[in-house]
Amino acid sequence: MTAATTITPTAPAAARIGALGKRFGERTVLDGIDLEIGAGEIVALVGRSGSGKSTLLRIIGGLDSAGAGEVFVDGRPTIVFQEPRLIPWQPVVRNVALGRPAPRNRRTDEHAARAVLAEVGLAARADAWPLTLSGGEAQRAALARALVTEPTLLLLDEPFGALDALTRLTMHTLLLGLHAERSFGVLLVTHDVLEAITLADRVLVLDDGRIAADVPIDLPRPRTAAAPEVSEYATRLLTLLGVSH
Ligand SMILES: Nc1ncnc2c1ncn2[C@@H]1O[C@H](COP(=O)(O)OP(=O)(O)O)[C@@H](O)[C@H]1O
Ligand SMILES: [Mg+2]
Repeated sequence: MTAATTITPTAPAAARIGALGKRFGERTVLDGIDLEIGAGEIVALVGRSGSGKSTLLRIIGGLDSAGAGEVFVDGRPTIVFQEPRLIPWQPVVRNVALGRPAPRNRRTDEHAARAVLAEVGLAARADAWPLTLSGGEAQRAALARALVTEPTLLLLDEPFGALDALTRLTMHTLLLGLHAERSFGVLLVTHDVLEAITLADRVLVLDDGRIAADVPIDLPRPRTAAAPEVSEYATRLLTLLGVSH
């Protein structure tokens, strides 16, 4: 007689990655990555330059293939890069409309694009040319183009890295507001540990192709970089990153 199989209910996940590996030629970049991002969870990923963060994001986003292992995304992943990557000869609203998953007609698509531009606070610049936008505005447009796809998982590759400090803080507030409204999962790559700690539910450290640490951030929100508890987490993460402090 066989025992009945116990089905363990698992929490809904935006993504599940198992034993993921990736090599470029002789170089192993990712080596047995296991990672689950809960539905609506914000996970930050930090690691030295060249540790494979962008490669991992690209594989989860379907822009690159895994060498080994499994990637499961429940729904739609969308990537936002450090550079806004807007098409210069199309106005902002067209750039965003082009992100629509199933484009219908110009009017419907632009209507949807304008609604999302309003969500990111860029309604007034909808008809502007990309090259006339400030860095922060261009990243808002890139975020709008990502949101119009109705992502279940937003993959952010150092999206605020090129912005000045004040604009970056404004973008943090915007991201958290959008997340509260839409509750997509987030995987945020950043080289800024304070950004990781103030935004994320959990911070992962990528080192030598593996997840070397998984640090839940147990702090109430909103968080400010100046809080002593944030500095304690920062010290811990910098130590894990091998940066003496
Ligand atoms: N298409 C590629 N071909 C060959 N090597 C690559 C390619 N993409 C990335 N790499 C290498 O893989 C490693 C990880 O790169 P990347 O994922 O961009 O790191 P990170 O984003 O953490 O800085 C680096 O050594 C990089 O040179
Ligand atoms: Mg990178």
